[in-house]
Amino acid sequence: MIFAANFKMNHTRASTREYLERLEGILRVEEYPFKVLVFPPATALCEGTDHITVGAQDAWGAEHGAYTGEIGLQQLREFAIDTVLLGHSERRHIVGESQERIAEKFAFYREHGFEIVYCVGEPLEVRKEGFEAVAEYLWEQFDGIDLDYERLIVAYEPVWAIGTGVAAETEQIAQTHDELRRRIKRPVLYGGSVKLDNIRSIAALENVDGVLVGSASLEVESFHGLMAAVAPGQIDMD
Ligand code: 13P
Repeated sequence: MIFAANFKMNHTRASTREYLERLEGILRVEEYPFKVLVFPPATALCEGTDHITVGAQDAWGAEHGAYTGEIGLQQLREFAIDTVLLGHSERRHIVGESQERIAEKFAFYREHGFEIVYCVGEPLEVRKEGFEAVAEYLWEQFDGIDLDYERLIVAYEPVWAIGTGVAAETEQIAQTHDELRRRIKRPVLYGGSVKLDNIRSIAALENVDGVLVGSASLEVESFHGLMAAVAPGQIDMD
């Protein structure tokens, strides 16, 4: 199972360092069979630790160049980073990033062998139209994306469940992940208000291979609590 923490625009360089040290200390002792990824803001990028992979929340699809405000391969290489999150809904819907642009970034980082956590998710108005509309919307977000890329991790994050405190219903998550599994053989994470209350039922779903966590990942205790809740021997399969 994969546990990924997306800090978004939270934490500083100093607090990220402290977070990683504390989490690494816990993971070293508890030896969970989980892959752990942390995505701090660009100013706090740093090398990962023995048990934690540090990745970028986004990056431009070029080595370096005239792209004001962006970071690219050169900046990531300085910290030996080879994991990048692409297509997060906040970039699609707030920043206005197009599918074409995201696909360009995907192609670039695929070319450079990066692990890519690729995010998709439908807005509420699409969910209200029914599951067929959801499936169609999600598959369109894979335009130009190589689903067979061996370092691909997909994250399904319904826009209406992000940062709202209300996750999708377990049945909705199950149905959507089953649909994605038809064509995606790589891990598929769920994201959107994952917290201690719902982690067990989400993690128990057959086609959920992990979680991408925002708010509940910001404190080490909280993120660790999610892992502890589904550690072997803890998981509730009902
Ligand atoms: P929340 O866990 O705060 O809902 O955020 C989810 C998310 O967008 C992770 O990428």
